[in-house]
Amino acid sequence: MNSGSPSPIQFFRQAVLTLLSIVFLANALNAQDFKKQTIYQIVTDRFFNGDTTNDNPAQSAGLFDATQTNWHLYWGGDLAGIQQKLSYLQGMGVTAIWISPPVDNLNLNIPDSNGNPTASYHGYGARDFMRIEEHFGSAANDWTAFNNLIAAAHADGIKVIIDFAPNHSNPDNGGEYGSLYNNGTFVAACNNDPNGVFHHNPDISNFDDRYQLQYYTLEDLCDLNQENATIDSYLKTAIVQLQSHGADGFRIDAVKHVTWGWEYSMSNTVFTSGPSFFFGEWAQGPGDALYHDSYKFANKSGISVLDFNVNQAVRDVFASNNNFSELDGEVSTEDGNFTWQNDLVTFVDSHDLARLLSVNNDTNRLIEAQSYILTTRGIPVVYYGDEQYLHNDTGGGTDPYNRNEMTAWSTTTTLYQVINKLAGLRAGANDALGYGSYTQRWINNDVYIYERQFYNDVVLVAINKNDTTSYPVSGLNTALPAANYTDYLGGLMSGPSITVMNGTGGNNPVSSFTMPAHSVAVWQYTSTASAPEVGSIGPTLGQAGVKVTIAGKGFGTGTGSVLVGSTAATVNSWSSTSVTFTVPSVTNGVYNVTLKNSSGTAANTIQFTVLTAKLIPVTFTVNNATPTNTGDYIFLTGSTIELGNWGTTWDTAIGPMLDPNYPNWFLNVSAPAGTAIQFKFIKIAANGTVTWENGSNHTYTVPSSGVGSVNVSWQY
Ligand code: NOJ
Ligand code: NOJ
Repeated sequence: MNSGSPSPIQFFRQAVLTLLSIVFLANALNAQDFKKQTIYQIVTDRFFNGDTTNDNPAQSAGLFDATQTNWHLYWGGDLAGIQQKLSYLQGMGVTAIWISPPVDNLNLNIPDSNGNPTASYHGYGARDFMRIEEHFGSAANDWTAFNNLIAAAHADGIKVIIDFAPNHSNPDNGGEYGSLYNNGTFVAACNNDPNGVFHHNPDISNFDDRYQLQYYTLEDLCDLNQENATIDSYLKTAIVQLQSHGADGFRIDAVKHVTWGWEYSMSNTVFTSGPSFFFGEWAQGPGDALYHDSYKFANKSGISVLDFNVNQAVRDVFASNNNFSELDGEVSTEDGNFTWQNDLVTFVDSHDLARLLSVNNDTNRLIEAQSYILTTRGIPVVYYGDEQYLHNDTGGGTDPYNRNEMTAWSTTTTLYQVINKLAGLRAGANDALGYGSYTQRWINNDVYIYERQFYNDVVLVAINKNDTTSYPVSGLNTALPAANYTDYLGGLMSGPSITVMNGTGGNNPVSSFTMPAHSVAVWQYTSTASAPEVGSIGPTLGQAGVKVTIAGKGFGTGTGSVLVGSTAATVNSWSSTSVTFTVPSVTNGVYNVTLKNSSGTAANTIQFTVLTAKLIPVTFTVNNATPTNTGDYIFLTGSTIELGNWGTTWDTAIGPMLDPNYPNWFLNVSAPAGTAIQFKFIKIAANGTVTWENGSNHTYTVPSSGVGSVNVSWQY
């Protein structure tokens, strides 16, 4: 047969294969199952200069430093640069990138206290959320470079997460004084705001005060008033526009400084328009006064959070040499509180923290920390440059010295290869990393062995962080089936092989072995599912009509069914690992969702909350709710799931409400549009005692769009 040009049959087969791969790729990209992703975080300006024509655009001339010596100016990185480095990222096994805010930022220099120029190179000083920053795209502030990056990333199977900063525009004390534009048309500024699109409160001084956090100013950044109808619509239009340009997910900047209740309606707006994934920057440390608020938010808003508490423990253990018990304890605390712990976003380094190598210049420790993050529960992030051991220790290596210029692109560093292996394991057929449980199996101060398990998929990880001491490990049990296992990392971090023997009850004994100093070992077993196994649902809440993705394994190729409670949902797509369905019209509430394969075999159920209708923000005020003592709070509760379904606990009722004008309390709450609701206010006292207001229920019909407000007095 002629080998030059394909025969019609070969051509036809090739065409079918191409079509199939397009269908599968599209399916994979739409499935908002981020649990199997590995995210790479990029500060766009510092990554790669792919287009020198945008280095010093006319409208913001002078904010570029070609010498890369002023760390507060633009250095040339852009969206085209990220696009040119996609194969480097793909080679590392990265499946998603999180890029710094790409929208148009402040055009003017704001000199620092020494008179040196500064610019908004990091992206957190927006002026126009509807356009792309000229340093990252083109002088026309158009979408071409953004669209090109997304198309190229998707073609390489890489999702794109956009950093979205709805809390503020730009600084209120210089430059453009917070000026906000809507696709080029001036809206308002902090010093020119007749319609109240901004809050005008002092800087936040008490980070434990819920009112200050949401309504005061964060670090002089002109604070957007999300409850204002203009801003509500502006921000939602902007984020849906990013979604319609292909953004697969969003990292919400300063999520605890934006009005919390409003944010439920923001994520809901995006989910109403199409699949997406959200996680927010709820900065905190272990023991934070608002810890409960953080997990209530993550459990109910449709917005997961960055796992700052595990981050702190990881840094304490790997950089400061604390004992592994700290990390083990923190993970179990978090897992007890977060409903969707496999959606928590985990990280070692970020643009807001000194790189680990600046804290402790020990490459092995960085590799061990990153190996932990890549294998623990939650979605791992790799901060750009860590794989090249990038760090600059000036001033301890904190901001801006953690936003280094990416200078090396080696694909042979140990960490680049470790990431490749572990990202591949997570993305591949072993579902234990993405969906599995987390169990500590063996621990001392320096050695930590933990296991991830999803049905019969098992990943066992061992880390010895000691610089010089090797440790014998005996008495270890595992769920791995009896067999010999070699290190999945192929010895990159000196991981030994192990022998597993038969035991009982999921506890198979491992023959004694030695973990060398500074070693990481990963042993894994991948099973074939004989029945459907569900590991993920996303989004976790939505009204009738919203598209939801269920992921796992063993769903089979023939289309089966999905039940929300006992109601069959319309199935839109079906593959053996991912199914999408449309939320049916059922009474609002929390449901068990059941997937059945084409022969009717049911998987494990997974929880989903059916909303009454699309969410819009409503400000509820109750006047003269008194007496309350310190630690007592007023909550709202009412007739739909959005209002707590008459729940009376801290977690089920809506609140706590805010009392800057005590004894009047208010709260912005996302409520079901166009719905007649009933509600009441309750006091939950510090000791847990619940007091209802008297009288009949208040009633209100939520507007069908825009924003709402309702103002009543406590009924005595
Ligand atoms: C937190 C971001 O991560 C930080 O870099 C930024 O400066 C502030 N939010 C304000 O947007
Ligand atoms: C029970 C409370 O006692 C009452 O005051 C409230 O109106 C109802 N729950 C809700 O219908």
